[in-house]
Amino acid sequence: MIKSYIWPLGNRISHVLMILLFAASYLSGDEDELLSFHAVFGISLGVLIIFRILWGVVGPKYSKFSDFDFSIKNLVVYLSSVFAKTKAHIGHNPASSWAIIAMFIIGLLSILSGLLAYGVGENHGVFAFLHSIYFKDTEVFEELHELLVNVFLAIIIAHIAGSLIEKFVRGGDSIKSMVTGYKNTETAVDTKTSLFGKIFQIIWILVAVASFVYLLGIKDNIFIKSENKAVDYEAMNVDFVNECASCHIAYPPYLLPKKSWSVMMNNLTNHFGDDASLDEKTRLSISTFLQKEASENSTSEVALKIQKSLNNQNQTIIAITKTPFWKAKHKDIDSKVFLSNKVKSRANCQACHIDIEKGLLDSELIDTKNIKAVL
Ligand code: HEC
Ligand code: HEC
Repeated sequence: MIKSYIWPLGNRISHVLMILLFAASYLSGDEDELLSFHAVFGISLGVLIIFRILWGVVGPKYSKFSDFDFSIKNLVVYLSSVFAKTKAHIGHNPASSWAIIAMFIIGLLSILSGLLAYGVGENHGVFAFLHSIYFKDTEVFEELHELLVNVFLAIIIAHIAGSLIEKFVRGGDSIKSMVTGYKNTETAVDTKTSLFGKIFQIIWILVAVASFVYLLGIKDNIFIKSENKAVDYEAMNVDFVNECASCHIAYPPYLLPKKSWSVMMNNLTNHFGDDASLDEKTRLSISTFLQKEASENSTSEVALKIQKSLNNQNQTIIAITKTPFWKAKHKDIDSKVFLSNKVKSRANCQACHIDIEKGLLDSELIDTKNIKAVL
C-alpha cells in the first residue's frame, strides 16, 4: 500500500469549519435571543459551501465533482454490500458522493429559506424589504427552513453513519484522511495542486474567516441589520404616553388586536383591579389611536402571531401576557423570575425587552441578565 495525498488542506479546513458552523447554527436555532448569532453561523456556512462547490468545478482530482461517483448502479452495489469489505474507493464512494451533493443543495436551500424567514418575519437582513410586502403568513418560511434543516441533519447523520461503518466495519481510512489528507492506495496517485489551486484555497479560507469576523463584528451589516425603526409613541399620541404609561410601561399597540383594545378602553374603571378612567375626550383620542395601531394594521410577525393565537379563544383577552402566543414564548422562564425584585411582573416587559417602549422587540434586544440574576 502506498500513502497518497488525496485531500488538499482547503478541503480539510473547510470540512472542520462546516461541522463547527452547522453545530453552532443548529444549537442556536431555537433561542430567540441568539437569532442574530444563528444567522451569522448559517451565512458563514453558506460561504464555505459556495467555495466548496466552486472547488468541485476547478479543484484537483478527487475534489472535483467529475471525479465523484454518481452512478446509481454503483450506489446500489455499494449500499447492498455496505458491511462487506469490498475494494476501497480512493476518492468519494457513491454513497458519500450523493450525500455531499445533497448536503450542498439542501444546505444552501436551508440558508436561503433562513434568510427569507429572517427578512419576512423579523424585518432583518437582505430580505427585509419583503417584510412589508408579504405579510399574510410569515410562518411559511420559518416552517420551510425547519423542514430543510431537518433534512440536512438527516443526511449529515447518514453521512456520519456511513463514515463510521467505513472505518469500523470495512477498515477504511476515510475519516483519518479527512484530517491528514493521506489515504492508503494500491497504486500511486498524484493529486498535486496547481499554483492556481493553492491560491484558490488560500482565498477560500481567508474569505470564509473574514466574512465570519465581519458578520459577527459589524452589527449593522446587510445580512443581519434590523430594518425595524424605533417608534416615538409620544409624538404619535401624547395622551397615550401620558395616561397609559403612568402605572406601567407604554405597551406597543400592535401587541393587541382591535377588539381587545376596544374592550379594555370601554372598561377603564376596572382596569386589572385599578381605576384608570379618563375624561371622554382623552379616552376617545387614545381609543382611536389604539384602533389605528392595533395588530391588524401591523406587518410585524409578533402582531400576526398574537392575532393567530387569539383566533380560537372564546372570550376576549385584554392582557398581552394572557395570549397563548405570549405564554408559549415565555413558558421556559421560571415564575420566580417574574416575581423577582428586578422584574416584579410578567407585564413589566421592559425588564427584559430593553426597547419595547419604542416598539422594538427584536431578538437581539432581549436582555437576559435579569433572568440569569434570579436563577
Ligand atoms: C392606575 C394605573 C393604570 C393606568 C393609568 C393604566 N393601567 Fe394598564 N394596567 C394597570 C395594572 C395594575 C395592570 C396589571 C399589571 C400586571 O399584571 O402586573 C395593567 C395592565 C395593563 C395591560 C396588560 C398587561 C399584560 O399583562 O399584558 C395593558 C395592555 C394595559 N394595562 C394597557 C393600559 C392602557 C392602554 C392604559 C391607558 C388607557 C392603561 N393601561 C392605563 C394599571 C394601569
Ligand atoms: C423576565 C424577562 C421577560 C419579560 C418580563 C418579558 N419577556 Fe418577552 N421574552 C423574554 C425572552 C427570554 C424571550 C425569548 C424566548 C425564547 O425564544 O426562548 C422573549 C420573547 C418574547 C417575544 C417573542 C419575540 C420573537 O421574535 O418571537 C415577544 C413578542 C415578547 N417576548 C414580548 C413580551 C412582552 C410584550 C412582554 C410584557 C408584556 C414580555 N415579553 C415580557 C423575556 C421576557
